[in-house]
Amino acid sequence: FNVPPPINEPVKAYAPGSPERIELIKTLKELKQLERDIPMYIGGQQVRTGNTQRISPPHDHQHTLGHFHEGDASHVHQAIEAALAARTQWAELPWEHRAAIFLKAADLLAGPYRARMNAATMLGQSKNAYQAEIDAACELIDFFRFNAYFMQEIYRQQPESMPGMWNRLEQRPLEGFVFALTPFNFTSIAGNLPTSVAMMGNTVVWKPAYTQIYSAQVLMELFQEAGVPDGVINLIYVDGPVAGDIIFSHPDFAGIHFTGSTGVFQNIWKTIGQNIHQYRSYPRIVGETGGKDFILAHHSAHPRQVATAITRGAFEYQGQKCSAASRVYIPSNIWDEVKGYLQADLKSIKMGDVEDFSNFVNAVISEVSFDKLAKYIDAAKADESVEIIAGGGHDKSKGYFIEPTIIVTKDPKYVTMCDELFGPVITLYVYDSQEFEKILDVVDGTSPYALTGAIFSQDRYAIDLASKKLVHAAGNFYINDKPTGAVVGQQPFGGARASGTNDKAGSMLNLLRWVSPRAIKETF
Ligand code: NAD
Ligand code: ALA
Repeated sequence: FNVPPPINEPVKAYAPGSPERIELIKTLKELKQLERDIPMYIGGQQVRTGNTQRISPPHDHQHTLGHFHEGDASHVHQAIEAALAARTQWAELPWEHRAAIFLKAADLLAGPYRARMNAATMLGQSKNAYQAEIDAACELIDFFRFNAYFMQEIYRQQPESMPGMWNRLEQRPLEGFVFALTPFNFTSIAGNLPTSVAMMGNTVVWKPAYTQIYSAQVLMELFQEAGVPDGVINLIYVDGPVAGDIIFSHPDFAGIHFTGSTGVFQNIWKTIGQNIHQYRSYPRIVGETGGKDFILAHHSAHPRQVATAITRGAFEYQGQKCSAASRVYIPSNIWDEVKGYLQADLKSIKMGDVEDFSNFVNAVISEVSFDKLAKYIDAAKADESVEIIAGGGHDKSKGYFIEPTIIVTKDPKYVTMCDELFGPVITLYVYDSQEFEKILDVVDGTSPYALTGAIFSQDRYAIDLASKKLVHAAGNFYINDKPTGAVVGQQPFGGARASGTNDKAGSMLNLLRWVSPRAIKETF
């Protein structure tokens, strides 16, 4: 058995009249008519508590997509027990069998599951068809295929042996269960976090964000159909702190695979630290967290290229990509031209429902998120020191719609240059074109985060200088490209500083966090 070198899944175009568009529209209609009853999955069994919560599309909050069954502390205990019960058999299954399951998941997702996964992501998380396709289909398929290939590399790597001896390295799964705690914004991340851990022979308790449960259920059905055995991945919908209290004080807690906000991750780390004496082993702590991602233009940059990067980098998926640009530094010599392009671009952008494929912008994820963003925008409107040059509108009567908004400030430390807003709001600072070196220090010193960043320049010296001075400012650094859209196997993704432990998702480095090697020496 040989896992073939993976090729990135081609992105479908969803052109009008194309078979993929016709199938997707049909699936959207079918899902909208169903009111899905969404259970938890513990030990392979569907668990219904009767304590249900409504799920609605963020762009149409009066419509009901379904109801999920919320669990409590007893379900967390049950999920841990199910994970521990499944552990030995799963760990002993040769890695090739585990790889085969996830390669099958990739093929199912590339084929019969594609439309349903995309439609569930569009409706549940308000992503347009193109954004759903690159996330819920292509990126997740890539995660499965690349991880299966990296697994093979890991399990086949063996140390040298001298005559008369046999040295070997046994890649044991961790001793206990792993907790996967996932965010709302990428279905692919929600799918990758539990599966990458499981691929390495571990069993998992998985808790998604409540705002991603609609597509999480489709993920669970995919895992089951691909052949993930009962108890290997246990999906629970339980309040985060309730689940955390039980999991982080359990002696068999072996690690956490987290993506979400910095504050939540830091609190989890503290709790694990406080409980460290209770665990059998030191838990693996892997987390990708917040960002305040930047675009920096040099005076040699092409204005059109910079404006396109801002529009796409800041406003695709309503600025809710962890990688989305949210602070921009533009040199004074190109500002007028960039501003003209930006204002024209934003005028041409349409906002609305995901079912109209011409809408570039859809709704933000929730009322909480909407209210937070509206507050920042209204404060900027009332602040005479800043100017809003595009957008500024918001309306939650039907869905949580925030207009793509550009704030221009004269203060590089203005509140929206620093806070992670996680929405379609970008703040821009115009600097003196002659002060490039000074602005590099500002870019580096403004934010505690270091997830993504982009430099635009036609000058090699400037590119080299920025790469050196901003060496720790981003885990993913782009030169003459927008800071979003990392592709598995091409640009391994992850941030440093307050943005995460930088154990690059979809890489060998990440998979190695989920094994504990045993070196064996045998003499003859
Ligand atoms: P979040 O931190 O609110 O939630 C993440 C998960 O943690 C969810 O499952 C949530 O229910 C759970 N949670 C929340 N509070 C908890 C608590 N006190 N105890 C235990 N669990 C708790 O994040 P989100 O809003 O779903 O996602 C957006 C955030 O994720 C942004 O900050 C974004 O930058 C970050 N993100 C980072 C990356 C990356 O690769 N660095 C990728 C995607 C998202
Ligand atoms: N792959 C996603 C991006 O880079 C996280 O935007």
